[in-house]
Amino acid sequence: MGYHETYKSWQDDPEAYWLEQAKAIDWDVPPTRALYDKGDDLYEWFAEAKVNGCYNAVDRHVASGRADQVAIIHDSPITGTKTKVTYAELQTRVAAAAGVLRANGIGKGDRVIIYMPMVPEAVEAMLACARIGAVHSVVFGGFAANELAVRIDDCTPKAIIAASCGLEPNRIVAYKPLLDSAIDQSRHKPDFCLILQREQSPCDMIEGRDLDWHDAQVGVAPADCVPVQGNHPAYILYTSGTTGAPKGVIRQTAGHLVALNWTMKNIYDVDPGDVFWAASDVGWVVGHSYICYGPLIHGNTTVVFEGKPVGTPDAGTFWRIISEHNVRSFFTAPTAIRAVKREDPKGEEIAKYDISCLRALYLAGERADPDTVVWAQNKLGKPVYDHWWQTETGYTIAGNPAGLEAMPVKLGSPTVPMPGYDVQILDEAGHRQPTGTLGSIAIKLPLPPGTLPTLWNAEDRFRKSYLTTFPGYYETGDAGMIDEDGYLYIMARTDDVINVAGHRLSTGAMEEVLANHPDVAECAVIGVSDALKGQVPLGLVCLSKGVNRPHAEIGAECAKMVRDQIGPVAAYKLTLVVDRLPKTRSGKILRATIVKLADSEPFKLPATIDDPDVLDEIKQSLQTVGYAAEA
Ligand code: COA
Ligand code: AMP
Repeated sequence: MGYHETYKSWQDDPEAYWLEQAKAIDWDVPPTRALYDKGDDLYEWFAEAKVNGCYNAVDRHVASGRADQVAIIHDSPITGTKTKVTYAELQTRVAAAAGVLRANGIGKGDRVIIYMPMVPEAVEAMLACARIGAVHSVVFGGFAANELAVRIDDCTPKAIIAASCGLEPNRIVAYKPLLDSAIDQSRHKPDFCLILQREQSPCDMIEGRDLDWHDAQVGVAPADCVPVQGNHPAYILYTSGTTGAPKGVIRQTAGHLVALNWTMKNIYDVDPGDVFWAASDVGWVVGHSYICYGPLIHGNTTVVFEGKPVGTPDAGTFWRIISEHNVRSFFTAPTAIRAVKREDPKGEEIAKYDISCLRALYLAGERADPDTVVWAQNKLGKPVYDHWWQTETGYTIAGNPAGLEAMPVKLGSPTVPMPGYDVQILDEAGHRQPTGTLGSIAIKLPLPPGTLPTLWNAEDRFRKSYLTTFPGYYETGDAGMIDEDGYLYIMARTDDVINVAGHRLSTGAMEEVLANHPDVAECAVIGVSDALKGQVPLGLVCLSKGVNRPHAEIGAECAKMVRDQIGPVAAYKLTLVVDRLPKTRSGKILRATIVKLADSEPFKLPATIDDPDVLDEIKQSLQTVGYAAEA
């Protein structure tokens, strides 16, 4: 069956479609029903079935003849090490780690935060939680202690699993002081911490609270898989919203097993046994779905990469790994390819390696700009597939279903909606827009299996963020259009979320930080275009009356505050001190207009603007840092 027939077969009978896909999962109690309508626009999938995520990702492969197949390849150009873990070894390691959690009081439904760098133990920690029905919440290592504290208070974990350090190309990031500081700051305190000591920077342990990852396993019985209800939360993953408080996206167990398994062949075109590599981080949704769960559920080999596209040691790292580990499908963010292209525009590094094993490159996380796609197509001589998705959905909304039927690539489009997603373009009043017309991208409810059922502890916020603007639809927060061939184009966010090097960040969160600077009276943070990172944040601050300090000093303090309170990953560096901010007559800051001005894009002067002269002042300021060029 090709794409159109498959999409239609889903449309004709969504429940039957997903029940059929569910047959690829090993159930303790198989589903007899797929969709559960809980009323009021809330839905769940396979709620009454029973299943275990870790069993499907690990044990079943050992039982079915893949015991000696490599499950995880860890390749760290930073430490110069490469290690392989077979499925049989993974089973032993995960059961041992799960045994430690269980012996220390962790059971079904308890939350466990994981704060770890790109080491196999990060994946093992996730699977160990899944094994005993604990709910993990992985926090990205590039976030500051304060962000970790916010997550500790929101999901109230009984335990935190961390490593002593992470390794960035230019420095060792000591995780333990960040962890200790986060626990000091949080109101909720975990019962214990399980710490992986890394030789690059071992840490001090707090007696009575901290356990050593390895020592704690001695004499502890390994844990078996515990079946959970289909709607049991597998994990909570926090993502940026409009305000400083992150949203806890919940992923339910059964739906994500069924959906991720489906994507491995139909989208990524890998068969069990093939090597699949997503060069992301376990702290992001891509890491959850395509470093940990997707490839393992499907019986693939996954690559855990501790390095960067460039500088570890050079722009040939991606191609070295593909060649050396026989990678068939490779997934990364456009920004990573831009970084490689900038260092190696002629693709000389690519020519040094035999990458004939590679079938295609997949890009997601931010808009795939045509220049980057064309460069990769030409230099790799392979298909390059853009695909669009979000933390909330956990897998592709629109993509190129290469394993089903490779659709012609159109530059600038992530291709077509996947089965499960009825994607519509709506105007502000919620009316469907004709072909080729720009509008808000919304998805008709219900969303398919594996997507978020609600937000952790925040159902009202879930409704407000996603369900109320367009009744009967899920609001994606992206704007775009659909062309005459049904191809989708993603043009911009409709909210204050920005995308920096493929990392989703909230400008609202940065504004909350800057507003606490003693000299700042008012501020706005926007995302401006950046040739490498796609977007970078830029802060516009108005100083309190009488403040007369050098602006550069204030800017440096602002950057330090954002780094200390949100994290280095925010990449906040640019602050402009301005006299006034452009506003509507009702006092709303015209952020979208400033973004257009900064990026030298045409815009209509908003009819509600209070004082148009302010825009000229802002323009002059933006020009001092290389933005807002004259047309
Ligand atoms: N732990 C601690 N710090 C981290 C971190 C981590 N896991 N990840 C990033 N950081 C820090 C970096 O060290 C850097 O700090 P610095 O300001 O002291 O240099 C800062 O956060 C920004 O990091 P990064 O976004 O990696 O930017 P960069 O300028 O170092 O590198 C790229 C630019 C394009 C090479 C890099 O952003 C990249 O590889 N992007 C791909 C991202 C990706 O795969 N995203 C997947 C989402 S689907
Ligand atoms: P995240 O939740 O971090 O995966 O970020 C999701 C957001 O990133 C989406 O809502 C889009 O704004 C953006 N995004 C992700 N993939 C793409 C893509 N292929 N094209 C355009 N934007 C994308």
